[in-house]
Amino acid sequence: MLIPKKVETALNNHLTLEMAAIYHYLSVASWCDANGFEGSSAFYHKQSSEEQTHFMKFFNYINQVGGHALVPELKKPQTTFKSILETCQKSLESEHKVTQSIYKLIETARKENDHATEAFLKFFVDEQLEEEMQFNRLIDRIKLIGGGPQSMYYVDKELEKLATTNNAEAGV
Ligand SMILES: [Fe+2]
Ligand SMILES: [Fe+2]
Repeated sequence: MLIPKKVETALNNHLTLEMAAIYHYLSVASWCDANGFEGSSAFYHKQSSEEQTHFMKFFNYINQVGGHALVPELKKPQTTFKSILETCQKSLESEHKVTQSIYKLIETARKENDHATEAFLKFFVDEQLEEEMQFNRLIDRIKLIGGGPQSMYYVDKELEKLATTNNAEAGV
């Protein structure tokens, strides 16, 4: 048993948020698809699979360090949205919650003198910053160009670019 019990419990609690993010993005992708936003749907599918990677990183880490990873119980995610803007705002909110949870995990690991877990979490600090910045930029951009049908066509194309390239190449 390498991992302190408190850290193991905190990591298991965090699994719920990563799993909720998989569900959230999948649900948004499906709403986009049903409403003709194909580029946005591709973008949110990509987000969902990235969250699956995060979930598995946490899940495997808990078991690797001698803990017991537990599959979390989840509520049904929101299924309908008013606009692409709302999907971005909800996504930013959810990413922000994940960021706060990761910061708390780091505090717990520090208190328990668990340097290994603190080092493991570094990747997620960088990842969260990137995700929050991405949604902030998208929200600013959508607000700037407005919510008319032509603007929405443009936004959908932008999100499609994000689904197929990395953020730096797409310029957001
Ligand atoms: Fe994540
Ligand atoms: Fe995320």
